[in-house]
Amino acid sequence: MSKISSQEIRLATRPQGMPIPANFTLARRELEPLPDRQVRVRNLFMSVDPYMRGRMNDGPSYVPPFALGQPLEGGAVGEVVESRAPEFKPGDAVVSNFGWREYFTAAPKDLHPVSREIQPLSAYLGVLGMTGMTAWAGLNLVTVKAGEVIYISGAAGAVGNVAGQLAKLRGCRVIGSTGSMAKVRFLREECGFDVAFDYKTGPVLEQLKLEAPDGIDVYFDNVGGEALEAALSALRVHGRIIACGGISGYNEAKPRPGPTNLFNITTKRLTMKGMIVSDSLDRQGEFEKEAGGYFRAGKLKNKETVVEGIGQAVGAFLGLFAGKNIGKMVVKLA
Ligand SMILES: NC(=O)c1ccc[n+]([C@@H]2O[C@H](COP(=O)([O-])OP(=O)(O)OC[C@H]3O[C@@H](n4cnc5c(N)ncnc54)[C@H](OP(=O)(O)O)[C@@H]3O)[C@@H](O)[C@H]2O)c1
Repeated sequence: MSKISSQEIRLATRPQGMPIPANFTLARRELEPLPDRQVRVRNLFMSVDPYMRGRMNDGPSYVPPFALGQPLEGGAVGEVVESRAPEFKPGDAVVSNFGWREYFTAAPKDLHPVSREIQPLSAYLGVLGMTGMTAWAGLNLVTVKAGEVIYISGAAGAVGNVAGQLAKLRGCRVIGSTGSMAKVRFLREECGFDVAFDYKTGPVLEQLKLEAPDGIDVYFDNVGGEALEAALSALRVHGRIIACGGISGYNEAKPRPGPTNLFNITTKRLTMKGMIVSDSLDRQGEFEKEAGGYFRAGKLKNKETVVEGIGQAVGAFLGLFAGKNIGKMVVKLA
């Protein structure tokens, strides 16, 4: 096969506060002939995710920082174009962590085969992929019972909308907050949320109290900041918090002080549990069976915002912090 020229996005400089386009470069790499026992993949879709912001900082975390001058990494779904390993053949669809590039070469152990029967294949980055599994694993982290009231912040995003749909399937009353009226309508009309409100139109606690005057049982935190503080006030005795994310603080150059009302944890005997989705990888099959079943039955919707071309990938990533996505933000590469 002739040499392949592949475009990729590299980290040029580490962002200070909110990332800017100059932190990234679009570069081209010539791929060497395929070595024995290796597989060549053309990416069809790549994922941009808020957690990638943390990997752009230097310093220890639960995943190592991105290296300067090197391509970024992240979820992607692609098709095998050439294989010198018996496990894969051209045309196979695979999920990998080699996003942010058009083509790559990998060992079979780094590729997760997926069925082409599911369409669009980008669903493997969202509802049936990492963010869907985050929603599922989050709901399994604490007790969430039928009839309970759950409040989800960042509700119209990739994790939030799936968490809400799954909580509805469990028989909960689901309240979501999000950043525009269009997203509020999406939550109510397409995702089956009982109630949704726009957190930009008034204090979160006031809006939450209006929708749940008797309080909430569970809070699924994607945002932190004001939403977490409101939830701490609204939670009932023995309430539970799923600490999934805190996007409101990811671009703060200097972290803000935490909630002023943390003492609610003591007085109301609350439980707050942190989670990282990769801790649940041993349950991925269980997730795929359950979520895949709901998806095929039409009970779980896949909502995504699709941006086209690797040249738009940085803009798609930056768009996450400006609320440009409804559902999962994905970049279509081929
Ligand atoms: N623990 C884990 O393993 C794990 C795994 C995946 C994701 N996460 C976390 O889960 C959260 C959601 O991730 P996602 O992939 O589903 O992203 P997402 O919600 O699809 O996209 C980000 C959304 O966050 C909202 N947002 C941006 N800046 C905000 C701010 N300052 N205050 C409030 N909302 C803001 C925007 O929606 P609005 O229009 O509503 O503002 C935006 O659309 C993130 O915090 C992420 O880091 C955790």
